[in-house]
Amino acid sequence: MGKVRIERPSVQWFYPWPLVLVSCVDDQGKPNIITIGASSICSSNPPTVGVAIGVRQYSLGLIQNTQDFGVNIPGADQLPEADLCGCISGRDCNKFDVVGWTPQPSVEIKSPLIAESPISLECRLVHTAHLGNHDWLIGEIVAVHAQDDILTDAGALDHAKTNPVFSFWGEYWSIGEQLAQWHFAKR
Ligand SMILES: Cc1cc2nc3c(=O)[nH]c(=O)nc-3n(C[C@H](O)[C@H](O)[C@H](O)COP(=O)(O)O)c2cc1C
Repeated sequence: MGKVRIERPSVQWFYPWPLVLVSCVDDQGKPNIITIGASSICSSNPPTVGVAIGVRQYSLGLIQNTQDFGVNIPGADQLPEADLCGCISGRDCNKFDVVGWTPQPSVEIKSPLIAESPISLECRLVHTAHLGNHDWLIGEIVAVHAQDDILTDAGALDHAKTNPVFSFWGEYWSIGEQLAQWHFAKR
């Protein structure tokens, strides 16, 4: 057994990607959803997250216009809708109508959220990195909305009740079981 050097470097060797749905709105008020695999926490204070959006994507112009976006984390039961939002364009349709979801007005930003999503983050665009065929958009989380049935009595996120989707190149996977708690090896 040994490691082999792969011929051509590419992003498919960085895995897994948490699946998120970025919500945005045009200047006529028509909402849109773009399915995103390339996303990450960027810093915890201030709380920021990043998403990579292709420079030709219809959604990119909407976000540049409002300077904000919603990040909605779907459950595995919402995979058909999430996948469809990654196959069709808001240029041609209203994706909320197509998948039967409800745009939920945000409190702090112009972009709406997805009412059916268990977790939705309101993000204000604070930085854009132009990297090539994708822009990396960093948003500060200015409000969080969580369904009460995935919270503990103390109001924290109960991870056992969430069911996020991860994607590997071309495939969707669900999360496995909890392995341990942070810093268990040092105890
Ligand atoms: C699983 C999955 C992950 C995707 N990840 C990204 C991504 O990280 N960045 C991106 O720009 N497009 C990504 N896409 C493609 C967009 O979701 C797709 O092109 C979408 O139709 C663009 O919507 P819009 O034209 O309404 O902006 C992904 C699609 C799928 C199915």
